[in-house]
Amino acid sequence: MARFLVEKSGPLTGEVTISGSKNAVLPIMAATLLTDEECEILDVPALRDVDVMCNLLESLGATTNKDLDNHRVLVKAEGEIKSEAPFDLVKMMRASILVLGALILRTGRAVIHLPGGCAIGERPVELHLKGLKALGVEVDSEQLKKGIVDAKATKLVGDTIYLDFPSVGATEVIIMAASLAEGTTILENAAQEPEIVDLANFLSKMGAKIKGAGTDTIKIEGVKKLKGVSHHVIPDRIEAGTFMVGAAITGGKILIKNMLTNHLKAVIAKLKECGVVITPTDEGVIVDGSVNPIISTDVKTLPYPGFPTDMQSPFMALLTVADGPSVVIETVFENRFMHVAEFNRMGAGIRTEGKCAIIPGGKKLHGAPVAATDLRAGAAVVLTGLVADGTTEITDIYHVDRGYEFFVDKLKALGANITRVED
Ligand code: UD1
Repeated sequence: MARFLVEKSGPLTGEVTISGSKNAVLPIMAATLLTDEECEILDVPALRDVDVMCNLLESLGATTNKDLDNHRVLVKAEGEIKSEAPFDLVKMMRASILVLGALILRTGRAVIHLPGGCAIGERPVELHLKGLKALGVEVDSEQLKKGIVDAKATKLVGDTIYLDFPSVGATEVIIMAASLAEGTTILENAAQEPEIVDLANFLSKMGAKIKGAGTDTIKIEGVKKLKGVSHHVIPDRIEAGTFMVGAAITGGKILIKNMLTNHLKAVIAKLKECGVVITPTDEGVIVDGSVNPIISTDVKTLPYPGFPTDMQSPFMALLTVADGPSVVIETVFENRFMHVAEFNRMGAGIRTEGKCAIIPGGKKLHGAPVAATDLRAGAAVVLTGLVADGTTEITDIYHVDRGYEFFVDKLKALGANITRVED
């Protein structure tokens, strides 16, 4: 099993360039199934989830050409497309569900076993299905009880859909399906994440008629056909946020290139509250954690534009070294405090009560054997290891491989003492 060994390191200094967004590229890759023409996707991060999505598209009948050294993926989904997504791929990545609408449009049917991914709560798909049903899709309720989505439709017809919660995945699946449905779909209480906007931009280039992406109401006028296009993926805001915390927690100063501050308003506001100095420049964003000691603050995760749940565990790492107690409230996922036990192995002394975690701050952290309990938590324990005395040994790092491109190399270039051990 591969592991990270992290030693206490000095302040991170230097510059880092942010990769393309994992959560933007996955739905865009799924959307390539909506056309039989070739699509070119650029600024694709070299990540395990991208490999899994390529394999999934291939297994469905598409041809993919992956050149991740140049961050480029070509997909051509011409010819016969299969309706059933293989379970061994789907179980590796929850985002496999994103092909649901496209499969129904291309083949009249989609069969997908309910997906895996990070173990952060139940992560159901009833909102995806509610939206598709409104467009005319029939879902086999007996199969669903067994954890299999078996959905059919001969044609999709636009409708008004209200999402009970602004689910990112459901919004993406419904936008894709509605793009080729007959008539107009209005999606209310839609997710507003930048990744939704990137998907809508990709689909619009393909010929879709989408208005309002990035707001809570998205209007999609169905078209008859979509065409192949080329598209650059947006930078990964969660990777950028993770490196911002890296500078802050180590009292370092780094220049972050290819980062869009507009996508990180909530994280930037909270880091500033903690005393971190953040200066946008023409070259990138300078994040300086050396000016002030870290001041405690409270954080509540929310759908975008609120504080991102994916930044909750990295930010909690920072709060462990703050000058006093902080409270973190997780409202997006019901089970996203698994990293607390890992931080506590390092001496953080955090208590949880339902959706709340109370972080005392100011503790002397020590290295310990810990696990990457999910993708972001893996990055969070690495950051904590940089300021803990002794060695932190991190297992289950396959989670980190799913979502951070060249994480170890990028950290090392900033002066972090981290090694990946393969055994
Ligand atoms: C996406 C991101 C993930 C991020 C999450 C929230 C990708 C590939 N992943 O995941 O990194 O943490 O958004 O920002 O983009 N829910 C329901 N019913 C549903 C669908 C969702 O109750 O039908 C609940 C989930 O259980 C969860 C919450 O809604 O508690 C958020 O889920 P959702 O927005 O769908 O997240 P994902 O699209 O899975």
